[in-house]
Amino acid sequence: MKGVILAGGSGSRMRPATEAYAKSAALVYDRPMIHYPLTTLREWGCDTAVIVGSPSGTGDFAKMLKSGVDYGLDIEYKVQDEPGGVAQALARVENSVDGVFPLVLGDVYHDPAPPKQDEATLFWVSPERYPNVDQHSTWYPEIGIFEKPRLVKIGRGAIISYFYDERVFDFIKKMKPAHATNELEIVDIHNFYRGEGAQMVEYTGWFGDMGTPEGLLRVANHIGERAILQAASE
Ligand code: TTP
Repeated sequence: MKGVILAGGSGSRMRPATEAYAKSAALVYDRPMIHYPLTTLREWGCDTAVIVGSPSGTGDFAKMLKSGVDYGLDIEYKVQDEPGGVAQALARVENSVDGVFPLVLGDVYHDPAPPKQDEATLFWVSPERYPNVDQHSTWYPEIGIFEKPRLVKIGRGAIISYFYDERVFDFIKKMKPAHATNELEIVDIHNFYRGEGAQMVEYTGWFGDMGTPEGLLRVANHIGERAILQAASE
């Protein structure tokens, strides 16, 4: 299975460092940020990772990750010429993936990976567990949680990662840029899948958004504490 990591974008909240290198090349504890979404793809059993980056960012990633040999998977690199939004970056992989495929943003951390899926799925976290989450500032007012076929709960949630399928590429072709950002926003893709009745799964592991200095520090502390506990138990 091929998995996708979207790691283009401008990284404006991490300037000035991101003037010089891609956000997902930043060091988070002892590894570059992109190591963590790659680990998620590996936990799902992906044999290939398709990484979308900016023209210079893909160069940063290729220098660090090479063919993927140290990660036990094959890496394909795709270039997004301008940071025109997550959906625009995703359009770059249309000819690289088949059927259902997982997608992780280049600044998202899961410990462990959410459960692997074989149909289009949106993973979400609740504000009770993640009060400071800033996933593009998008809190969905109502997410239906089904224990098929019954709706058991509706609550607020932020969608953090996904399994999509080929329908997404036809949808992207019909999308229009959002007024506020002039970007093709992933929120519209979520709404499309929600309208199609896609599966919604609550992620109950440890989640972090590394796209801000505070978020990066929070994840680095989590990894550091885990490493110290691990060392103490050996
Ligand atoms: P964001 O954090 O929303 O955007 P950004 O990375 O440009 O950062 P900032 O908001 O601080 O300017 O993006 C989330 C992920 O999506 C991130 O890993 C990069 C990726 N992305 C793309 O691949 N292409 C894009 O055009 C955008 C905007 C984001």
